[in-house]
Amino acid sequence: MTRLRRVAVAFGAGALVLLASAARFVQTGGDEDVPLGDFGLSRIATPDGLRPPADDFFVSSDCALCHPRQWAELEGSMHSVSHTDRFYRRFAELARKEAGEEVYTYCSGCHSPAGVVTGSIPALPEDRLPEIALDGVGCDVCHQVSELTGHDGPWGEPGNASLVLSPGRVKYGPFDDIERNPAHEGEQNVDLSTSEFCASCHTVIHPVNGLRIEHTYDEWRGSIYAEKGIQCQDCHMRSVEDAVRVAETLEPVVRRGTIARKGGEREIALHTFVGGNVHAGELGGGERHSRAARERLRSAARLHLELPENLEVTGSSLSFEVTVENVGAGHALPTSLTELRQMWVHVRVVDAAGTVLMQDGALDDRGHLTAPALRFGSELVDASGAVTHRPWEAVDFAWKRTVPPKGRDGETFEVELGPGIESPLSIEARLLYRIAPPHVVKEVMGPEAFTPEIVEMATASAELDLIR
Ligand code: HEC
Ligand code: HEC
Ligand code: HEC
Ligand code: HEC
Ligand code: HEC
Repeated sequence: MTRLRRVAVAFGAGALVLLASAARFVQTGGDEDVPLGDFGLSRIATPDGLRPPADDFFVSSDCALCHPRQWAELEGSMHSVSHTDRFYRRFAELARKEAGEEVYTYCSGCHSPAGVVTGSIPALPEDRLPEIALDGVGCDVCHQVSELTGHDGPWGEPGNASLVLSPGRVKYGPFDDIERNPAHEGEQNVDLSTSEFCASCHTVIHPVNGLRIEHTYDEWRGSIYAEKGIQCQDCHMRSVEDAVRVAETLEPVVRRGTIARKGGEREIALHTFVGGNVHAGELGGGERHSRAARERLRSAARLHLELPENLEVTGSSLSFEVTVENVGAGHALPTSLTELRQMWVHVRVVDAAGTVLMQDGALDDRGHLTAPALRFGSELVDASGAVTHRPWEAVDFAWKRTVPPKGRDGETFEVELGPGIESPLSIEARLLYRIAPPHVVKEVMGPEAFTPEIVEMATASAELDLIR
C-alpha cells in the first residue's frame, strides 16, 4: 500500500515545507525519496485505497448502548480526545500553518484516522468535520483494523499509522466465537492483542528524513517485558495496581467479566489507556484519567541514594550518588515525546540550621529548568543545528537521555563542607515529571496556556552526622 514516489525536490531554507498540488513538492534541503501512501505521508490505509463515507463508521457513543463499560472507560482518555486535546489542537494548527496541509494530514493519520480515510481531513474546516473525525482514536478505529502493514512499509517496521481500516459490519476483536447480535459481526484479529498493534501509532517516524522521533515500541522490544511476552495491553489495559503486579512478576494479570449487555463471562481489558498525561482533564478528557496518570507515574520509578558507608562525613567534602531505577514502565522513562516530556531529579543538601549547602535541578522564577545533572528527555535539532520543539523541522536529536526498562541511571554529587556547618546534614532527592516546559506550552497555546503540573514520582532522603 505504501510506495516510494520520486518527488521534485527544491532546495529549502532547512525547514520542511510541503505544498499540496497536483505534483507534490517536498523541500528537504536535498534529494530524497519520500514514501507516500494512499492518504499522503501517513501510512493509514483502507483495503481498496478508496475513501469510505463517514457514515460507514460509528462514533464511540453509539457502541455504548451494548458496551457501556468500555465506553465509560474510554471516555475522557487521551485516545478519546486525540483530535480535540487542546494542546494537540494548537500544536497541529501550528504544523498546518508552518509546514502545510500535508503535514497536518500526516499528524491526523494517528490523531484522527477516520477523519483522514474519509477525506474530511484535510478537506473540511474544523467546524464542519463529521463527528467521527472528532472521535479521535475511538472504538471504530481500533476495532475496524483488519490488518497491520508494519513490515511492508518503507522502514520495514510499524509506525506512522501502519494500519488498514475496514469500516463495516465486522468488528475485529480478540474472540472467534461471539454471541450473535443485531449490531455487528465479530472476527478475531489476534494482532490486536499485541504490542505491534499499538506500535502502528506509537512509533512516530519523520515522514521525509526517517528520524525516529517516538519509539516506545523499540524500547519495549529490547526489554525483559518483550522477552516474557508482556504486551502494552498488559499494563495500559489494566488498572495501575494490576500493572504494578505485572511489572513485578512479569506475568500477565487476567481479569474476567462480561464484554457486552448480552453474553457470558470472558477475559476483559480496561479501556482507559492511561499513561503519564496528568492534564487529561484540563485538555478535554477526564479528571479520573488525570488521577490515574499521577498514580501510574508514581508507580514507575524508584530513587536510590548511595551514601558514604558509615553515614559519617569526615573530610572537607561529601560525595553521594543519586540513581533513578525504572521499575514499572515497559519502556524507557520517559518515553515517546521525550522532546516535550521532562523528567529530572531535584537534589538538596541542607544543614541542621536550614542553610542550603547545595542544590541541583531547581526551577528558576519563570519555571525553566536550569540544566540539572540528572535530566531525562531529549532535544531535537533542525537542519541548521538549532534546537527545535517542532517535530516537522527535526533532523536529529541534540541529546537524549532516558532510563531503560528495569535499568538504572545516576550521577555523583559533591558538596563542599566549609566551616560553620551544623550537623546533622539532610539530603533530599525528588524525581519530578511534567508533560512539557511552560515556555513551550505558552508559545503553542498563547492565552489558553495551562501551567504544567509537576508530579513527584519518587523521593529519597537521608541524614548524615558530621564528625569533624
Ligand atoms: C505515528 C502516529 C503519530 C503521528 C503521525 C503524530 N502523532 Fe502526535 N502523538 C502520537 C502519540 C502516540 C502521542 C502520545 C504520546 C504520549 O502521550 O506520550 C502523541 C502526542 C502528541 C502531543 C501531546 C499531547 C498532549 O496532550 O500532551 C502533541 C502536541 C502531538 N502529538 C502533536 C503532533 C503533531 C503536531 C503531529 C504532526 C506534525 C503529530 N503529533 C503526529 C502519535 C502521533
Ligand atoms: C446491539 C448491541 C451491540 C452494539 C450496538 C454493539 N455491540 Fe459489540 N458486541 C455485542 C455483543 C452481544 C457482543 C458479543 C458478546 C459475547 O459474545 O460475549 C459484542 C462483541 C463485540 C466485540 C468482540 C468481537 C470479537 O470477535 O472479539 C467487539 C470488538 C465489539 N463488540 C465492538 C463493538 C463496537 C466498536 C461497537 C460500536 C461500533 C459495538 N460493538 C456495538 C453487542 C453490540
Ligand atoms: C510493565 C508495564 C508497562 C508496559 C508493558 C508498557 N507500559 Fe507504557 N507506561 C507504563 C508506566 C508505568 C507509565 C508511566 C510512566 C511514563 O510516563 O513513562 C507508562 C507510560 C506510557 C506512555 C506515556 C508516556 C509519557 O510520558 O507521555 C505511553 C504513550 C505508553 N506508556 C505507551 C506504551 C506502549 C505503546 C507500550 C507497548 C510497546 C507500553 N506503553 C508498555 C507501564 C507500561
Ligand atoms: C486504542 C484501541 C482501542 C479502542 C479505542 C477501543 N478498543 Fe476495545 N479493545 C482493544 C484491544 C487491544 C482489545 C483486546 C485486549 C487484549 O486482548 O488484551 C480490546 C478488547 C475489546 C473487547 C473485548 C474485551 C473487553 O474488555 O470487552 C470489546 C467488546 C471491545 N474492545 C469493545 C470496544 C468498544 C465498545 C470501544 C469504544 C467504547 C473500544 N473497544 C475502544 C483496543 C481498543
Ligand atoms: C490509531 C492510532 C493509535 C493506536 C492504534 C493506539 N494509540 Fe495510543 N495514542 C494515540 C494518540 C494519537 C495518542 C495521544 C493523544 C493525545 O495526547 O492527544 C495516544 C495516547 C495513548 C496513551 C496516553 C499517553 C499519555 O501521555 O498519557 C496511552 C497510554 C496509549 N495511547 C496506549 C496505547 C496502547 C496500549 C495501544 C495499543 C493497545 C494504543 N495506544 C494504540 C494513537 C494510537
